[in-house]
This record gives sequence, C-alpha cells and structure tokens, in this order.
Amino acid sequence: MRITVLTGAGISAESGLATFRAVDGLWENHRIEDVATPQGFAADPALVHRFYNMRRATAAGARPNAAHHALVDLARHHDLTLVTQNVDSLHEQAGSTDVIHMHGALTGALCAACGHRWPAPLEMRPDDPCPACARPATRPDIVWFGETPFHLDRIWDALDRTELFAAIGTSGNVHPAAGFARHARRRGAECLELNLENSANARDFHRRIVGPASRTVPEWVASLKRG
Ligand code: APR
Repeated sequence: MRITVLTGAGISAESGLATFRAVDGLWENHRIEDVATPQGFAADPALVHRFYNMRRATAAGARPNAAHHALVDLARHHDLTLVTQNVDSLHEQAGSTDVIHMHGALTGALCAACGHRWPAPLEMRPDDPCPACARPATRPDIVWFGETPFHLDRIWDALDRTELFAAIGTSGNVHPAAGFARHARRRGAECLELNLENSANARDFHRRIVGPASRTVPEWVASLKRG
C-alpha cells in the first residue's frame, strides 16, 4: 500500500525532546519572532545561534524510541513516504532512509549569502565564515516562520498518490503541513491521526488513535502488517 506519514514533535517527546506548544515547551522561554524568523536572526544572530546550539546539543544526546523504530519496519512492508517537520535526526538514527525534512535539520549549516550547505558543527557562531564564499553569514539550515518549507513538490506529489495518510504527534497549527490531511483526503486517501489529543485540524481525519506514540505507532504498524 502507498502510505505517507507526517511526523511532528510529539513523536520525539518520549525521546526527551520538548515539543513546541506544551506548557513547558520549547518556545516557552523564547518569542517565536526572536528565534525562528529571518527578522529575529537579522536582529540578534547570537541569540538565534545559542537557541539552536542548545537544541543541537540536546538532540545529539537523544535516542529514537519505539515509534521511530516502528516506522523503519513499516517501510519494509509498504511503499512509505516519510515526511517530518522535526529537525532532529531520530528517524535516521532508527534506520529510516530517504526522510523528507521539510523544516530542515539541526545537522545542517547554510550560508545566507551564497546558499552553500555543509554539515553543522555542534556550536555555530554568527561570525563563522562560509567554507565556500568566506562571508560570515552562517545560519542553521532550518526553515523559519515566513520561509518556504523544503521539498514541497515531492510532498504534494506523494499526497496526490497516497492511499493512506497518517499524521503522528503534530498539533496541526503550522501550514502547509497542517493542510496535508485535507489535501490527501480530497484525493481519496484514508486519513489517520495518532496523537495524545485532537489536533487543530482533527476534523480532516477519518480516524484517530489516541495515546503516546511509543505505544500507538508500533501497534498501528503491527495492524498494517497483519492486514
Ligand atoms: N505521543 C504522541 N503525541 C504527542 C506526544 C506523545 N508522546 N507528546 C506530545 N504529543 C502531541 C501533542 O499533543 C501535540 O499535538 O504532539 C503534538 C506536538 O505539537 P507541537 O508542539 O505544536 O509540534 P509540531 O506540530 O511538530 O510543530 C510544528 O511548528 O514550531 C514549529 O517548525 C516548528 O516543526 C515545528 C512546527
């Protein structure tokens, strides 16, 4: 079966990585505009680098949980397109290949001046020179608010053709990802949400499995292998 999975911060919560919109979530001590917009970066690049250096260090110490591992298994049995909004690398650490990082990755550095990309060091600083053009315009290779997510052509194409769309651990607040279920449903896919609670776009899904991802995702994958 052709399956498209979209993951959000909730799938990594049980690996110890904070989600964004929880009370004690990641944005709690930061204004989104300060750390996750091009304007915030222009105003205070050192603050933005500190924020992502902190996240990079935390993510480097995290390990995938049963939900990440179950998706590796799913790809062995079905034609899976795995799209993530997460900037951690827990899907890859679990063994998933060809993960579509629509919001970029903490492991990447990008030169805001020339567009060159390279592997991010653990600690990035605003005056780090670009290895290609030597200008001090280093930024995390992460999609900020107001910027266009990566790989959208490939994602819309997968959604056009998918038979089953599943969103795991995402609150459905951020577009365009929040519109994927509606798009896939219009094209005839069955839409399923796996989350601790209803997302903001819960009505776009036919079905919902409520509970922690480390339990619900392995159970769901097992049911797909039986069926
Ligand atoms: N299992 C399943 N779901 C969970 C778990 C868990 N253990 N823990 C939390 N959740 C759910 C929450 O109920 C919530 O609906 O995961 C969702 C996390 O939502 P957000 O924190 O809003 O994260 P996400 O949807 O990934 O955010 C989308 O917003 O801030 C930007 O670019 C950032 O990629 C991010 C995007």
